[in-house]
Amino acid sequence: MRKKIVAGNWKMNKTFLEAEELVAHVAEDLETRKLENKIVVLCPPFPYLELATDIAKDSKFSVGAQNVYPEDSGAFTGEVSPPILSSMEVEYCIIGHSERRKYFEESHEFLARKLDSLLKHNIIPIFCCGELLPERKAGKHFKVVEKQLNESLFHLKKDSMAMVVIAYEPVWAIGTGVNATAEQAQEMHAFIRGLVEKKYTKKLAGDISILYGGSCNAKNAKELFSNPDVDGGLIGGASLKAEDFIAIVDSL
Ligand code: PGA
Repeated sequence: MRKKIVAGNWKMNKTFLEAEELVAHVAEDLETRKLENKIVVLCPPFPYLELATDIAKDSKFSVGAQNVYPEDSGAFTGEVSPPILSSMEVEYCIIGHSERRKYFEESHEFLARKLDSLLKHNIIPIFCCGELLPERKAGKHFKVVEKQLNESLFHLKKDSMAMVVIAYEPVWAIGTGVNATAEQAQEMHAFIRGLVEKKYTKKLAGDISILYGGSCNAKNAKELFSNPDVDGGLIGGASLKAEDFIAIVDSL
């Protein structure tokens, strides 16, 4: 069954005390909500994962990491492996985020390896895709997203693919205050679902969750989420304030 998900990507923000306060605040607000088939995921920086998974045990949210290195263990100074994440009860991991593609030059092949390594350890990948502004202006956005999916994701077998969450994040909308319109989001999400159907099955395409990310906030979330192919959001800036994040959860 298709799941509705709101995931907060904190990126490189919050000190330890601020993180503690934000997780506790979100947990407390979720307590009063009936989430039914909604899933809430918090993705804090690595050092705060344990704090988050500790609180998550008695709360209504799950925890995700923002990154992973695609080896089980070894001499990779500074990196974090899927077994480390799963030993800390981290259930989700963001990969393919445009900031990692841009600043850390992560290639399609490297992302495919990350995906495989996460799935091997039963961690749910939140796979990000999306075009740059010049690509959209040139009308190449569908081609760009199709290539990202083809090269990093579509090598998966059906059972593995069924575990993946996709996040469409147009790069021009990330952190800019300019979100994709509801029509632009719906159009791309329907396109992505169509690709999944072509490559796999209609059932799998119907079951996969496709989140929207990019300047999604408490004001525009409801309109974005009202589209039939938008199954929730990957939230950056607006996940850093509990009230805003919870308002987005309430919009789903
Ligand atoms: P934003 O970021 O909500 O701050 O635009 C979204 C993301 O990068 O995941």
